[in-house]
Amino acid sequence: MKILVVGGAGLLGRQLMLQGMAQGHEMHGTCKDVRVEAPGAVWHSLDATDFDAAGALLSKIRPASIVYTAAFHVVDDCERHPGAARRINTDAPLFFADWCSKHGAHFTFISSDYVFDGKKQGLYSEEDETNPGSVYARTKRETELALLEKYPFSASCRTSVIYGWHPSKNNFVLWLLRQLKERKPVKIVDDQYSCPTLANDLAAAILALIRLKRTGIYHATGSECVNRYEFSLMACEVFGADRSLILMAKTPDLRQLAARPPNGCLRIKKLEDAAGVRMSGAREGLMKMKAEMEAEGGQI
Ligand SMILES: NC(=O)c1ccc[n+]([C@@H]2O[C@H](COP(=O)([O-])OP(=O)(O)OC[C@H]3O[C@@H](n4cnc5c(N)ncnc54)[C@H](OP(=O)(O)O)[C@@H]3O)[C@@H](O)[C@H]2O)c1
Repeated sequence: MKILVVGGAGLLGRQLMLQGMAQGHEMHGTCKDVRVEAPGAVWHSLDATDFDAAGALLSKIRPASIVYTAAFHVVDDCERHPGAARRINTDAPLFFADWCSKHGAHFTFISSDYVFDGKKQGLYSEEDETNPGSVYARTKRETELALLEKYPFSASCRTSVIYGWHPSKNNFVLWLLRQLKERKPVKIVDDQYSCPTLANDLAAAILALIRLKRTGIYHATGSECVNRYEFSLMACEVFGADRSLILMAKTPDLRQLAARPPNGCLRIKKLEDAAGVRMSGAREGLMKMKAEMEAEGGQI
């Protein structure tokens, strides 16, 4: 199948490109500057918010499926720049979804656990009521709603704290380990819970949903609900980093601009049943990340 990954050089995008190639798909990826090694893949420079350029690219390659991974996801900056957040997180994915609906192609959008306010006790299911509390979360929810209403041949995958090995981009785990390596103390909260998601697992799940032409909303996270502090200690244990530099904090201590849901833990049974995949627990995912980093000769 010909698949276009918008944001193909990112953490999730890179895994989609690598695994898609390994599964025999014709993979096309868009990137702004950084390309990643994915032998056989085709790269296109594109700002996803330039709809003239995007339209021309789509007419040229005519993919059977598009995965939109690009995002403005620095949530505090989204509060400061709501217009830019809406353009990248809502207008652009809907532009690609519209093209898909006109050309019989499947569309996948990556949403977030932040669409919930986090006040529920226990895991959120796909049917639970949303209540986004930040600009970032509202742009994600608006896109989900528009896809449900106007573009039925599409899937929205709600994910959480994506981590994994990437040769050139940072993510929470790589950032943490690099801070500790430089002997910098870090404050990590113990009152925000989520199911951290290994990028490799998420990419495998998305490719399975595409193959099976699944539509609708899916929760697509790791299988274990942990708080950020616990997750950070696990990362130290797995990578042999010094945990004494991690200072336990509470959300208000960080004085962040955007609201963070205290509970972003999602039930993933619908995804595992629909796609036939198993998502890793937190420590298991960290061990896979370390193994991949070492296999590629990478380092913190
Ligand atoms: N990371 C998390 O913890 C998390 C949690 C929940 C949901 N999500 C969602 O999961 C998705 C994937 O996240 P990720 O961690 O893989 O992000 P990532 O590593 O930052 O990758 C996103 C990619 O999109 C590209 N991009 C951004 N703006 C673009 C634009 N205007 N035009 C073209 N490309 C653009 C970026 O390119 P440059 O690098 O060149 O800017 C980057 O390569 C996002 O939709 C995010 O909102 C992430």
